[in-house]
Amino acid sequence: MPRILDGIAIASAIKQEVAGEVKSLAEKGIRPGLAAVLVGHVPASEIYVRSKVQTCADLGLYSDLITPPDTVTTEELLDLVHKLNARDDIDGILIQLPLPAQVDAKLLLDAIAPEKDVDGFHPVNAGRLQAGRPALAPCTPAGVIEILKRSDVPIVGQNAVIVGRSDIVGKPAAMLLLHQNATVTICHSKTRDLPAVTRQADILVAAIGRPGFITPEMVKPGATIIDVGINRITSRDDFDRFFAGNEKREATFAKRGSTIVGDVHPKAFEIASAYTPVPGGVGPLTIAMLMANTVRAAKMRRGL
Ligand code: GUN
Repeated sequence: MPRILDGIAIASAIKQEVAGEVKSLAEKGIRPGLAAVLVGHVPASEIYVRSKVQTCADLGLYSDLITPPDTVTTEELLDLVHKLNARDDIDGILIQLPLPAQVDAKLLLDAIAPEKDVDGFHPVNAGRLQAGRPALAPCTPAGVIEILKRSDVPIVGQNAVIVGRSDIVGKPAAMLLLHQNATVTICHSKTRDLPAVTRQADILVAAIGRPGFITPEMVKPGATIIDVGINRITSRDDFDRFFAGNEKREATFAKRGSTIVGDVHPKAFEIASAYTPVPGGVGPLTIAMLMANTVRAAKMRRGL
């Protein structure tokens, strides 16, 4: 039976450590602060941001939730970012994505002061990360590394194959794994004979955003699978394709009319030696790492 890598437990350990750091900073008169900008009323974004703000409160960080209407302009948001950059009580700035179509998201993200860029999306942080300099790394890939390390999964010299090349997950995950001395391959939609490449993986990171894309024949027996995908499925066909015979999932599906599946087909996990489940794997780490990044930003900005 493969080992299930419990993201909830790992995230909880990290949050406890962050709370401890917040406490010792408080003794120096420092309270790390996060500004969360939530534009409009995208339901998923509202849930995520609420959870981020609540976690700040739980761990003793200051937070400021700013909720511009979905008619906001790029100029208005730029003005807001400049003000947040200048505020001394704010160490981290998070602009929840996606933004409405009229907003120039890249322009906006590039306006965040790199030292307050706790999402790690700014090109300066991407550059620092790849150059091996101190950087705020994107939260989800940073969480992937924490899961591997805290679960004692060997990384040095291992073949790590990442499926997906996004700026937010795939590319930074590759850099972080490379810094840990893995041998790293990034695959994408144009990769030739993808299963032959993924079958080389001792560590397989799935971050393509396609439900159940990684099938059993793509997995090397005994590999560690990190499933970054969060895909909501609503059709009976999809449900049966992934979860036929799974009573617990059947109950969720009957109650909500949907369920969540990662980028890895559940049958593929059976071949692994360890894997992150969906939900309850990588997902919980994202907020934990956001908190860790905010505390780190607070310390870095003060030269601590
Ligand atoms: N939308 C979905 N995930 C994220 C994230 O990690 N950061 C931000 N800012 N927006 C998101």
